[in-house]
Amino acid sequence: MSAATPASLSPNPLPNPLPLAVEGANESLREFQVPEPVIDIRNLYTNFGANVVHDNISLTVQPGEIFALVGGSGCGKSTLLRTILLLQLPVSGSIRVFGREVLGLNDEQAMPLRHRFGVMFERGALFSALTVAENVAMVLKEHTQLSPRLIAEVAALKIALTGLPADAGLKYPSELSGGMRKRAALARAIALDPELLFLDEPTAGLDPLSATGIDELIRSLRDALGLTIMLVTHDLDLLWRVADRVAVLGEGHILGVGTMTELSKMDHPIIKEYFYGSRGRAAREQAWKRK
Ligand SMILES: Nc1ncnc2c1ncn2[C@@H]1O[C@H](COP(=O)(O)OP(=O)(O)O)[C@@H](O)[C@H]1O
Ligand SMILES: [Mg+2]
Repeated sequence: MSAATPASLSPNPLPNPLPLAVEGANESLREFQVPEPVIDIRNLYTNFGANVVHDNISLTVQPGEIFALVGGSGCGKSTLLRTILLLQLPVSGSIRVFGREVLGLNDEQAMPLRHRFGVMFERGALFSALTVAENVAMVLKEHTQLSPRLIAEVAALKIALTGLPADAGLKYPSELSGGMRKRAALARAIALDPELLFLDEPTAGLDPLSATGIDELIRSLRDALGLTIMLVTHDLDLLWRVADRVAVLGEGHILGVGTMTELSKMDHPIIKEYFYGSRGRAAREQAWKRK
């Protein structure tokens, strides 16, 4: 009902209509409005021939959230990230990012949006012929007009933010441990001060101690830089430690969405297997111990 509607014409007149006409009321009401999701996916459908990967998928990621996508190998997690990043076209559906529909944008139209994204792909993909600092600097050279001196300073800052020692910038990826390589890839992903960070399997291939370090880093980067993070992982420890909400993808659908505690109580057989299989049990027990 609009504030201008005479109470007598209203189908259900309220004795005291909402005080929208009161000066300043809109401002105070705004505080209670639900923030617009950073990512809003509706009715997404993707197939590769007969292989239907996403069958009517809808989900939202809220500002500041660490949102995780999980599910069996080949269920379409990476494809979903690639679709949001406009590297893959769905058949139908809608994906709004920062309130803007991204499907149908051409490369030029997508560029300003892409500058607000940071991405760390599954296979890290640092250039092996470049040092860590050169890897980070390359992104800055490509996308900014900064002077070489400033680029070197920003690259050093990003490398420091990921917890790498100062001399790591001078090293080649092959000279680093797995955990350090992930940190270097993260430094490159945050080179352009993204608002939204995508991480595909950020702890894959790491020993438990290095993986724990990456968990903590993801959280602290989110807090320090005010990021929204969407990540894909198989790592149950990572999920318990960092994910605010988790979506389980399977058989083309979102089988469940919620906090890890909520999901661990859901009745779906695939979700149950995920949480109550042997790996799931161990990770859950560790999570309870930490609480
Ligand atoms: N470009 C492509 N062409 C054909 N099939 C693809 C392509 N990309 C992914 N697929 C298929 O889509 C399914 C989902 O892949 P993916 O998203 O990589 O799975 P996940 O990341 O969950 O392991 C798999 O069956 C894969 O073989
Ligand atoms: Mg994948």
